[in-house]
Amino acid sequence: MRTSILFLLLVSAQVMNSFTSTAQTSNSVNIIPKPSRIINAKGSLLLKEDVKIFFSNEVEGKEILLSYLCDQINQLTGVEIPKKITGKLPASNKIIFKKVNDNNWGEEEYSLIVDVTGVLIEAKSGKGFFYGIQSLLQLVPLNTELKIPYVKILDEPRYPYRGMHLDVCRHFFSVDFIKKYIDLMAMYKMNTFHWHLTEDQGWRIEIKKYPKLTEIGAWRIEKDGSKYGGFYTQDQIKEIVKYASERFITVIPEIELPGHSVAALAAYPELACNQGTFEVENEWGVFDDVYCAGKETTFEFLQNVLLEVIELFPSKYIHIGGDECPKASWEKCPLCQKRMKEEGLKDEHELQSYFIQRMEKFLLTKDRKIIGWDEILEGGLAPEATVMSWRGTAGGIQAAKQKHDVIMTPGSHCYFDHYQDDNYIEPTAIGGFTSLQKVYEFEPTPSELNEDEAKYILGAQANVWTEYMNTSDRVEYMLVPRICALAEVVWSPKGQRNWNDFKDRMNHHYELLHKHEINSFIQAPHGGVNKNFFFDQMEMPLEVKLQDAEIRYTLDGSNPDVNSKIYTKPLVIENTTTIKTQTFHESGLKSKIRTIECVKISPLVSDTISELSEGLKYKIIKGKFSNLDEVTYDEVMQCGVLDKIKFPKDIEEEYYAMEITGYLKIDKKATYTFFNYAVDPVQISIGGHVIISNEGLNARQERRGRIHLDEGMYPVRIVMVKNTPYANQQVSWCSNYFDQIPINSENLFH
Ligand code: ACM
Ligand code: ZN
Repeated sequence: MRTSILFLLLVSAQVMNSFTSTAQTSNSVNIIPKPSRIINAKGSLLLKEDVKIFFSNEVEGKEILLSYLCDQINQLTGVEIPKKITGKLPASNKIIFKKVNDNNWGEEEYSLIVDVTGVLIEAKSGKGFFYGIQSLLQLVPLNTELKIPYVKILDEPRYPYRGMHLDVCRHFFSVDFIKKYIDLMAMYKMNTFHWHLTEDQGWRIEIKKYPKLTEIGAWRIEKDGSKYGGFYTQDQIKEIVKYASERFITVIPEIELPGHSVAALAAYPELACNQGTFEVENEWGVFDDVYCAGKETTFEFLQNVLLEVIELFPSKYIHIGGDECPKASWEKCPLCQKRMKEEGLKDEHELQSYFIQRMEKFLLTKDRKIIGWDEILEGGLAPEATVMSWRGTAGGIQAAKQKHDVIMTPGSHCYFDHYQDDNYIEPTAIGGFTSLQKVYEFEPTPSELNEDEAKYILGAQANVWTEYMNTSDRVEYMLVPRICALAEVVWSPKGQRNWNDFKDRMNHHYELLHKHEINSFIQAPHGGVNKNFFFDQMEMPLEVKLQDAEIRYTLDGSNPDVNSKIYTKPLVIENTTTIKTQTFHESGLKSKIRTIECVKISPLVSDTISELSEGLKYKIIKGKFSNLDEVTYDEVMQCGVLDKIKFPKDIEEEYYAMEITGYLKIDKKATYTFFNYAVDPVQISIGGHVIISNEGLNARQERRGRIHLDEGMYPVRIVMVKNTPYANQQVSWCSNYFDQIPINSENLFH
């Protein structure tokens, strides 16, 4: 309410005739995150190169704001505005920063007015001015004419915590890239950088008291024998913290404990429960070797590490990890068991809670608070801890009900290491599927909370785990545009959010991002199915839903380029053809290339079989096979009949392959699409044609194949490999494209 009244006052104080109130943005105002209030107007202001910049007396940090503004305008437009503060209020061709002395204004609130007289940014603090600058920079056209649309904006964020996380342990990134990451966050008014600095696969922060942490812990030997790693010196860290603070971004360091600590144990093995030596991990996962909770030396070590950490990071919060700590070594360790007995702890979860609470108590004496992943709820929450809810929102809800602050980062909406589109062509990711729209539709405050409890939700954060991001280019690709969607989730009023409107505004941002040399995901054309078998001819429709962009394609197997044919209507394919198609955005950004195979075949002839039994025959073949070519069919361990396409439950071996054979009964003439979703290799053949060959390792890969079938019985053969112990094998397949037909004993025979 306060905002609207103030806004009306603000507006009424200005020349009103050219302004029209509207809830929509016009073509030229495409700010992300969408401001709380915008009034657009017809017309625009033309700033000249010698624009005067004026600050009212009390604006703190004016030199930094001035320098940032001029540098950014120069980078975007090439125009060099003199980095000079004007002594007296200019009449026109001006940018004015005016401090508001009003307790009703929030620290991050700002107003931006562009009218015939110039630009006016008002705020109470540096943060507000900085966000006013960010909105202004999104209004500046990317050419040498500083023509800025008339507009009035009054704006403040919905949540105080607007975070981005980056894992620099699985892969290491340069100081320059960390600055670029911070710049990207700043563009979209994100204010907290969660820097994940220690892991099993690398310790990345110099600690002077424990030099081996970086001499040994920062380096791993990869499977091919090469050495990989790196770390940030304390000077580099100070430089980054300062760089971030000049962009009003707080850096929260994460020092993982008690788990994910193999790199530290490689340097100081005496901190583990088990005697022995450790090597910095070169695989991804969760490891049993963790800090010993029974040894006093563990706490001494961690406290000394944190003493240096808090000298480097002024942040009120220190993130202490707390996630994914297996209890196996504590269960066997006499010292850990002794600690449990002495402290009256009933199980290892309570021992973890003891561990975290000791670290909290220590940090509180230094006037710092802890944040931990939601596992810190288990065994009892430390009294003043803030919880980062990552395994869904339940942990966050539980913590808020216990009156603890919460940051929402559920895997479902906030994990930017997930796929953002069809994993058939997207670069290998850790798994999952978190589309731009899904991020956009995230609601950080769960409906389970009442008004009082909801106050504990400080905001949300995206997590960028880098197992499958080995270059900065790939990090950007996974981040953009999803960061823009999240920025709007945490900044804009809930009622201002509108997916189609966001998508429209986003179209203007690709050019801006490209100007900043930031790589971005552009959606490749979708064409239904990647492998198609047809008789006479087939149609292939293509579409791109996320961006307004051209679809280009080739039919001769070559990669598309800017001269390739532009798609206008469904392609009619009459012969065996490879379609290659790609999205070209006017920003210059391109999508990945999609390859679609269209194979012309003779109609399949239905087999006539007299005696039929229900189900398919299967054979289990012993061995560990990493792909389908390796399967040898010699050593059959077991055979029988299945009524579902699933591994039988009673197999004790961990690794094996399965061959399934029989007939598929088709009752209705149609074009059928077969789906396969699996972790390990799978091949599906119908009537002797390989419809799907899914050899995706490491990722949950979906494959589809399409074939036309008349009524009748068709031979089917499926080979499935099991080579990952944890794999939840989901091999569902065969459905009519439009109405799913489950495959079961009614249509499988042998
Ligand atoms: C996490 O993703 N392990 C917090
Ligand atoms: Zn122990």
